[in-house]
Amino acid sequence: MSPAADRLPTAFAGRLRLPVIASPMFIVSGPELVIAECLSGVIGAFPALNARAPDTLDGWLTRIRTELAAARAAEPDRRIAPFAVNQIVHASNDRLARDMETCVAHEVPLIITSLRPPGEVVRQAHSYGGLVFHDVISVRHAEKALEAGVDGLILVCAGAGGHAGTLSPFALLGEVRRFYDGPIVLAGAITTGDAVLAAQAMGADLAYMGTRFIATREANAAPAYKEMITTSSAADILYSPTFTGVHGNYLKPSIVAAGLDPDNLPHADKASMDFGSSSTKAWRDIWGSGQGVGTIVDAPPVADVVNRLETEYRDARARLAQVSSDFAG
Ligand SMILES: Cc1cc2nc3c(=O)[nH]c(=O)nc-3n(C[C@H](O)[C@H](O)[C@H](O)COP(=O)(O)O)c2cc1C
Repeated sequence: MSPAADRLPTAFAGRLRLPVIASPMFIVSGPELVIAECLSGVIGAFPALNARAPDTLDGWLTRIRTELAAARAAEPDRRIAPFAVNQIVHASNDRLARDMETCVAHEVPLIITSLRPPGEVVRQAHSYGGLVFHDVISVRHAEKALEAGVDGLILVCAGAGGHAGTLSPFALLGEVRRFYDGPIVLAGAITTGDAVLAAQAMGADLAYMGTRFIATREANAAPAYKEMITTSSAADILYSPTFTGVHGNYLKPSIVAAGLDPDNLPHADKASMDFGSSSTKAWRDIWGSGQGVGTIVDAPPVADVVNRLETEYRDARARLAQVSSDFAG
């Protein structure tokens, strides 16, 4: 396996304070959150579909690029991270071609693709030197994405918020590393700096963190949603396909508040899988969250979260140096 530093794309070199992508979240991630994340030194990302009209996407990208460029000009030595846009590659997303044209025009540094292997998206992103990372929950999906020419894989493992896989990160990362030596991002219940370091120790290059950033001042989530994140624990998370046709992790108290019984949900119909406007209502009322929720106790500004992550990461590294010298000299 090559050293992690060799695998990270050169576009990220010297620009990240921590090896973290703040992952894209439906409804929750908008320009305010993304800008705060990038200014704090972690990659910020949002789903293109969060901009409710294609013209809005153009406006969001202009704002993000302008604010990040101004901050870089004011403080050239500060680590200000690049940003990413998430594209849902699925028949129900009839905006994909137009949204990709907008991303090409703005030369979005990183495109994150979900669901289907993204052949055409890869070609478009590469046309201006952009990168494409694809999220996968299995070895088969990882192989298909690599055939499509992606630049990195995001392994969405058990316990991740929103649509998630079922495999242990130890199992999936270990198997993918046997045939892939490129950039790997690890996802699933990562909420602390200790866990970011653990992801690197396992062979990942970056950690992918969603749920931790829902409970922040800049996230576009209802106050009651942020509050529920800070008071829930792993036992409150339900893994179900009912709400979108794809298995995902959700907060049980939000299901109860929507008048449903988490132990007795209607059956999901995969044919009704929809990532367009009709899925909005489900996500507005039924709140997604990963199993790492139990470590989150407050909803401060993003900058405070990232400062804390950095302290935890440093402390964990110092602690680990002690442990490893005890064992392997
Ligand atoms: C509320 C919510 C909405 C999400 N929406 C999206 C999305 O639109 N596109 C996507 O690729 N992933 C989405 N995800 C998944 C995240 O990008 C990421 O895989 C996940 O949050 C990582 O696990 P964690 O929440 O345990 O950190 C969502 C996750 C949550 C919690």
